[in-house]
Amino acid sequence: MRKLIILLALLVGSNLIADVKAGEKVYKENCAICHTINGGSALGPDFNLVAYKRRTVEIEYYAKDPYALAETFGYSANAMPTLPLEDQQFKDVAEYISSLQPFKEWMKKDKTAPKEKVLVKSEESNTTKKEG
Ligand code: HEC
Repeated sequence: MRKLIILLALLVGSNLIADVKAGEKVYKENCAICHTINGGSALGPDFNLVAYKRRTVEIEYYAKDPYALAETFGYSANAMPTLPLEDQQFKDVAEYISSLQPFKEWMKKDKTAPKEKVLVKSEESNTTKKEG
């Protein structure tokens, strides 16, 4: 019990807790116009594909500041607008996107395996400043 309380205190103290259900609402209201789920085509990439390729923190940071990260993520230009949402909403929607399941056989892989490249580190707190 005591351990659990300490763990909870750590979670609350260090970070906002993401809520997948709230994230789905954020998605429907703010992202669905440009991003499909379960395959489809729209202006931005399908979110199941994003879930396959990216870490939760990368999704969160991109959503917060697409202009700053477009190049890092391999885009030659940035067409996604910077959306006026709360930090908690970005966190929730990133958690929701990450929770999306693969819809193609090739997308089913060991989720715990390291992905090719780390684009954003979580220790950078909530700023997207470049190093150096
Ligand atoms: C007006 C259209 C539009 C809206 C609204 C929009 N996006 Fe995007 N998004 C894009 C486009 C276009 C790209 C491709 C890169 C770019 O243009 O910045 C993109 C790229 C992304 C990426 C990077 C994908 C990757 O892994 O390469 C993420 C993550 C993302 N969007 C999240 C979101 C979230 C979360 C929301 C809602 C809160 C949202 N977007 C709303 C158009 C949009």
